[in-house]
Amino acid sequence: MQNNNITVADLFAGIGGIALGLKRAGFKILWANEMDHNACITYSTNFKHKLYECEIQKLNPDELQKVDMLAGGFPCQAFSIAGYRKGFSDTRGTLFFEIMRLVDSIQPEYLFLENVKNLERHDNGNTFKVILHELEKRGYHVKYKVLNTCEYSDVPQNRERIYIIAFKNKSVCDAFEFPKKSTKHKPISAILDDSVEKNFYYNEKSPFFSILTKEMTKRDTVYQWRRVYLRENKNNVCPTLTANMGMGGHNVPLVLDSKGIRKLTPRECARFQGFPETYKFPAIANSALYKQFGNSVSVPVIEAVAKEIMKAIKKVS
Ligand SMILES: C[S@@+](CC[C@H](N)C(=O)[O-])C[C@H]1O[C@@H](n2cnc3c(N)ncnc32)[C@H](O)[C@@H]1O
Repeated sequence: MQNNNITVADLFAGIGGIALGLKRAGFKILWANEMDHNACITYSTNFKHKLYECEIQKLNPDELQKVDMLAGGFPCQAFSIAGYRKGFSDTRGTLFFEIMRLVDSIQPEYLFLENVKNLERHDNGNTFKVILHELEKRGYHVKYKVLNTCEYSDVPQNRERIYIIAFKNKSVCDAFEFPKKSTKHKPISAILDDSVEKNFYYNEKSPFFSILTKEMTKRDTVYQWRRVYLRENKNNVCPTLTANMGMGGHNVPLVLDSKGIRKLTPRECARFQGFPETYKFPAIANSALYKQFGNSVSVPVIEAVAKEIMKAIKKVS
């Protein structure tokens, strides 16, 4: 296997944040799977490899190209330890086990999994125990760590995610280390546009306008409306972008600039995830774009972890 030819299948691909980070680190994506139509539009606007638009449950492993790595930020679905003890049949329907179904058939050398920080504590730690057990019983050696985007890249977003990396080869696993904390993130001003269309601004008719004008007093600070109150982020970073930004205007983080109070634009949200300016937006509703970037990953963190995997592989081979 050539180091520069390590092939990947991108599961739960979303708009391709994991794909982009892996590609930048030198991995070669062969195919992807995603069921959300709007996400698939964005994905295929930016990548040319094969994209299966369907539920992962519908993928037939016999028809899939073999790859060296399976990657995916899978939705964290509850599977109780009680169900697990009853045997595989009770947990088969859950998405993590769909990944295992593909692992059993494709037998990849590496797995690159990403999830919310809380996965480790979900169901009192039992879910995570099951995940580790399932990987280890298939012969994988596993390392995992929670990384915060603003500490491991220059992107000013508070986003803590767990990264689970599994290796068939123990020596490669031993050689792999998660990236070191990076020195400094960019200021918020580096992300914000100077000129933004009028429709992103709030006015007297907007909900909670009087509270916002009273409380939003600082520039280069990101605020967030939290149901009944305004939260100011005091750490000079953007709060975690979430998928529900697409479900109602006031879930989108807010800023004050020279023209007034406004929502972040989808392009600014993309920058807060470390997507480059060249990343193309298809002509779909802004609400869909907000949801997609909230659901995505911080590309430079994926890239940093992926480069360390590449380093470990090269060291051992
Ligand atoms: C957390 S997001 C992953 C985002 C992706 N890593 C990115 O960079 O954009 C999870 C994705 O899984 C997709 N998904 C959920 N259930 C699925 C299923 N049964 N089959 C295929 N995709 C699914 C969702 O539509 C969503 O885009």
